Amino acid sequence: MNGVFVTGTGTDVGKTVVAASIARKLAAEGKRVAVFKPAVTGLDEEGTPDHVMLREAAGSSQSDDEVAPYRYGPPMSPHLAASLAGEEISRERLLEGARTAADGADALVCEGVGGLLVPLALDYLVRDFAADLALPLVVAASPGLGTINHTLLTLEAARAAGLEVAKVVLTPWPEEPSPIEASNRETIAALGAVEVETLPRLGLR
Ligand SMILES: Nc1ncnc2c1ncn2[C@@H]1O[C@H](COP(=O)(O)OP(=O)(O)O)[C@@H](O)[C@H]1O
Ligand SMILES: [Mg+2]
Repeated sequence: MNGVFVTGTGTDVGKTVVAASIARKLAAEGKRVAVFKPAVTGLDEEGTPDHVMLREAAGSSQSDDEVAPYRYGPPMSPHLAASLAGEEISRERLLEGARTAADGADALVCEGVGGLLVPLALDYLVRDFAADLALPLVVAASPGLGTINHTLLTLEAARAAGLEVAKVVLTPWPEEPSPIEASNRETIAALGAVEVETLPRLGLR
C-alpha cells in the first residue's frame, strides 16, 4: 500500500487540514488519491465532517461508507460512540475497507482519530490500525507552548510499536513565528530526530 497515515498529538491539532493538504497536493500531481478514516464521531456538531473534507481534497468519488465505514453523531472516543450505538468497531472490516480504498488508487491518505492511543475498540487502538496498514506516519502538532512534550510522547508511542515516522507538521504555522514557536520547531527536530515541516494558515471555508 502506498500513502501516508496522518496522526496527531491529539484532537483538534490539524490532522484533517494536514491530510487534506497532502491529498490535494498528490491529486494536483495527477495521482489518483483515495482517502480513509477508520471512524468519524461528532457528526451531531456543526461543520463539515472529516470524511467529506478529505474526499473533496482528494477529488475522490468514494462513497461515505468507502471513506469512513463507522460514523457516529456524538463527539466522543470511537470505542464509546460505537458501544452506545450497540456495535463494535471491527479490525477486519477496517482493514478490508482500507484495502478496498487503496485498490486502484496511486496513494491512500488515511487520517487517524484523535491521537495514537485512542481506542477504536478496547483491544484495537488507532496505533494498532496504523501498524496494520504499515503506512509512514505524518504527525500533526501545534506550534505553540506544550507541543514539545505532546509531540515527543507521540513519537515515542509510534516508535515503541515499530511505526515509521515520516515527519512532523506544525500547523497552523504563523507568518511571523514567535521565538518559542521557532525554538519548538528546532527542539522537536533535534530531540525527536525527525524532520519537521510547517503548514501556514490556509484560508479554509
Ligand atoms: N494550517 C491551517 N490553516 C487553517 N486552519 C488550521 C490549520 N491547521 C489547523 N487549523 C484549524 O485547527 C482546527 C483543528 O484542525 P483539524 O484539522 O480539524 O484537527 P483534527 O483533525 O486534528 O481534529 C480547525 O479549526 C482547523 O481549521
Ligand atoms: Mg480531523
